[in-house]
Amino acid sequence: MSKFICPQIIGHRGACHYSPENTKASIELAAKQGAKWVEVDLQLTQDNNIAIIHNPTVNKCTNGKGKVIKMDFAEIAKLDAGSWHSEQYAGQRVLSLEQLLKLVIRLKINVNLEIKSNVGLNEETASIAVKAVKAIWPKDRPLPLFSSYSLTAIETVKEHYPKAPRAMIVGEWNQFVKRAIVDLDCSSINVDRRLITPQRLACMHETGKPVIIHTVNGLASAVKFIEMGVDGLFTDRPGDIIAALQAKGLYRST
Ligand code: G3P
Ligand code: MG
Repeated sequence: MSKFICPQIIGHRGACHYSPENTKASIELAAKQGAKWVEVDLQLTQDNNIAIIHNPTVNKCTNGKGKVIKMDFAEIAKLDAGSWHSEQYAGQRVLSLEQLLKLVIRLKINVNLEIKSNVGLNEETASIAVKAVKAIWPKDRPLPLFSSYSLTAIETVKEHYPKAPRAMIVGEWNQFVKRAIVDLDCSSINVDRRLITPQRLACMHETGKPVIIHTVNGLASAVKFIEMGVDGLFTDRPGDIIAALQAKGLYRST
């Protein structure tokens, strides 16, 4: 397993409080705001490409309609993925995984690739994502973090790319989940902030893994969680959260 240095701040879908989620504009804005990492969402297309989009349909984040898995990437790439957000971002496009990887490499930031959980597609999506990263990612840079709610997706990443950091995204906390994280040799625990109490955080840390929580957009809330001992935060507004942590002497720039 390649060494994983847990980031403190991850721009969630880029800087999606200010710009259309998962687009080039949003990722560039997160980098401009000082984020060293961004998180994006991966969905399989009909032609075995990967589109960077959160939902299983294009309906919310583009001017089109339809299921991602029933569309070829070329069809998705023609859609406007910015106008739904604001006129300023008209003409943004849905990125392919390959385009996304080249973008973050150019911006000299790292990326958490969230393989969206879709019944029957998780193994395929994970193995295509692994192939793309192996083909494109520079050998001298720390590898991206793969994550998923899907156990199958994480097992696939472990099997085909054992040295890549991987994380289970956790929507509940119990002994089964704790055991799975240890057995899969995960690099971090990515978890909904609503599950975090000081006691539960201590129990998560018994695994020896850093804990990264989503999604924290309140400044006071970010300070509270970092003071509590949470290792990393996904946020829609990385610049503001970095400034809030800096003001309290809590910001870690890795
Ligand atoms: O990976 C953290 C977070 O992005 C998971 O939830 O729905 O925002 O993709 P979601
Ligand atoms: Mg996500």
